[in-house]
Amino acid sequence: MTDLNTLKTDLIAQVEAAPDAAALEAIRIAALGKSGQISELLKSLGKMSPEERREQGPLINGLRDAVASRLAERKAQMEAAELDRRLAAEGVDLSLPAPPRRRGSVHPTMQVMDEMVSIFAEMGFSVAEGPDIETDFSNFTALNFPPKHPAREMHDTFFMAAEEAGERKVLRTHTSPVQVRVMRQINEKVPAWVATGQEPPIRVVVPGRTYRCDSDATHTPMFHQMEGLVIDKAVHMGHLKWTLETFISRFFETEGVVSRFRPHHFPFTEPSAEMDVQCDRSGGDIKIGQGTDWLEVVGCGMVHPNVLRNCGLDPEIWQGFAFGFGVDRLGMLKYGMPDLRDMFAGDARWLGHYGFSPFATPNPATGLS
Ligand code: PHE
Repeated sequence: MTDLNTLKTDLIAQVEAAPDAAALEAIRIAALGKSGQISELLKSLGKMSPEERREQGPLINGLRDAVASRLAERKAQMEAAELDRRLAAEGVDLSLPAPPRRRGSVHPTMQVMDEMVSIFAEMGFSVAEGPDIETDFSNFTALNFPPKHPAREMHDTFFMAAEEAGERKVLRTHTSPVQVRVMRQINEKVPAWVATGQEPPIRVVVPGRTYRCDSDATHTPMFHQMEGLVIDKAVHMGHLKWTLETFISRFFETEGVVSRFRPHHFPFTEPSAEMDVQCDRSGGDIKIGQGTDWLEVVGCGMVHPNVLRNCGLDPEIWQGFAFGFGVDRLGMLKYGMPDLRDMFAGDARWLGHYGFSPFATPNPATGLS
């Protein structure tokens, strides 16, 4: 007859020594499983005489209860210890500030372009685009640049390697070649990526990237311009001046912009001018619409008859004006960004500071900035 006390001591010792839940389960099966040691003892009760059973029954049942309850206790202990361990390892300190959620922002240049387009759209302009890699013809020749004009030289222009036919494309040095594409499209179907194929009257703005071999605090090899072109039968400098003044006062959200036209030279306009607006430079930053200083904001002029002719329009019938804004430069002025090079350095901290929420879509009705 198995010594029940020894068996109990032995099983309890095993339970105490079990290192983990799996070991504990093995002990349970060996003792209380279908053919475990205690289960066999319980089965043997059936074969005993009534007297023996009366004596052994309570002892064996007591043994089963004692081992079962010790197993249950150890199991609960192990589960509690495991929970403690996980809580310690995976604990969250709720007093810490939440980690910042990284969210993209709209680059100031793109925001400024949207602001500009929304103002011009309200004035009846549509948007045209053209390729960054441009023909020499559209970038220079059609725009009345003489063959030896210095802007064609290596120091200004990024030339592509010559193609098989000997043609050397350029990275466009301005958005003016899209003027050429828009006008030529009418007669010759030269592709300009215009929203609608426009017959004159033409009213388009052309936002886009431009390239010049130049780099300092106010010049980068890649920058952005917005061209404007208006062609009709009786367009004059007065229309040009009103358009630009209206644009500037809307863009800078200030009434009473005072402007002046300084004579200038562009091969593709005649007369040509640079428009300055009155500003105040005292106190470090530039304020438009007050003060006595002047700030150059845009190159412009009446489209040169040679350009109209080169684009298949009769200058005896059609005339118009054009202008070209530096988009990044306007953004620097409006939002107080001191160095143009920072705009294209891809520094996420700079973008986090100057960038715009994707939900702040410029809209003249609700405000632009
Ligand atoms: N294309 C000129 C430039 O890049 C700007 C300009 C555009 C001037 C249209 C007059 C008319 O400097």
